[in-house]
Amino acid sequence: MSWITRCLRVGSDPDQCPSIKEAAELLKQGEVVAFPTETVYGLGGNALSKDAVAKIFEAKQRPADNPLIVHIADASMVSKFSDAKPKHMEELVQAFWPGPLTLVLPANEIAQKTVTCGLNTVALRVPNHPIAQALLREAGMGLAAPSANLSGRPSPTLAKHVLHDLKRFIPLILNGGRCPVGIESTVVDLSQDTPVILRPGTITAEDLEEVLGFRPEMAQGEEAKRRTPGARYRHYAPTMPTYLMMPMVDDYGFKSILQYLSLKGRVAYLGPRRPLSRVVHEPANRSNMGEMLYRILRTWESEGIHYVIVEGVSEKFGGISLLDRLNKAATRTFHNRTDIMNFIESGELP
Ligand code: TXA
Ligand code: MG
Repeated sequence: MSWITRCLRVGSDPDQCPSIKEAAELLKQGEVVAFPTETVYGLGGNALSKDAVAKIFEAKQRPADNPLIVHIADASMVSKFSDAKPKHMEELVQAFWPGPLTLVLPANEIAQKTVTCGLNTVALRVPNHPIAQALLREAGMGLAAPSANLSGRPSPTLAKHVLHDLKRFIPLILNGGRCPVGIESTVVDLSQDTPVILRPGTITAEDLEEVLGFRPEMAQGEEAKRRTPGARYRHYAPTMPTYLMMPMVDDYGFKSILQYLSLKGRVAYLGPRRPLSRVVHEPANRSNMGEMLYRILRTWESEGIHYVIVEGVSEKFGGISLLDRLNKAATRTFHNRTDIMNFIESGELP
């Protein structure tokens, strides 16, 4: 199906906004609609409709074995998707919902037939964004909603990013401006005996520890791939080579790589250092880089930048979720000056 995609602005009082009613109507008819959440834009469809879920996969060109997060208006809707009440669930719900925390629970039979891609668990979240909230209430259903980008592209944090990726594939985008968090929710698996973080986000292991009384482990490597299908795919890739440069790289290494890449094309740098004047520079530090990252990568792509260098962050001090996304976006990582010198000497450049 090919659509003329409309992008409707939602005013300051979403509950009274005709665009929300129109979006809810489309959802009730089994169509899909993009909407803002506090993390990134989602592409929503009725989570209990096989057809609507199929439309989401088709529009995003998403691998068929990567299950979707179901968004619900409040915790009372959990029972539509799961009969279980795992240990620790109540505490986490009280502390973090609505908000950027997704909980993986044992799925009931109907959820297993629609949104879980054959898994026996379902991922649920209550978003904390007035437009997402108004839409969920008006539609009166749980919305399966992955990030509203083409599979493998950076997640959208502005309505125009959704339009760029999904124009003609979907009927409607609700435009709520910029998503304040900018990276996707923390995913915590509660379906086993002990909670495990499947995807890091702005709610950190330390935040979870404050509520749980112990720090949950992070699923890594093969375990992460087994437990959360999203970890199997390369994500968030911009189209131009993107190099991650860790803080240990000294000024000499930094200047050398800028000079080298500048001989080959237009270079942009995201981070706190002062680059050469011919390099496009977006100043950023650890505290605002998460919100900016996807947006800046998309801007530079559209401006025809050839090479991107992004300053990495240390894993400590809440840098884990940002580093996770940077690693996924990066073509290659430079840990120190030697890495950079070896790269320059090898002469390999896409
Ligand atoms: O912030 C977010 O979570 C955004 C907004 C739109 O809410 N959504 C989002 O969805 O990032 P998506 O589809 O891009 O990522 C969902 C992640 C994937 O890595 C997927 O594998 C994992 O959640 N997931 C979904 N259901 C799961 C399940 N039952 N068990 C384990 N992982 C699951
Ligand atoms: Mg995604």
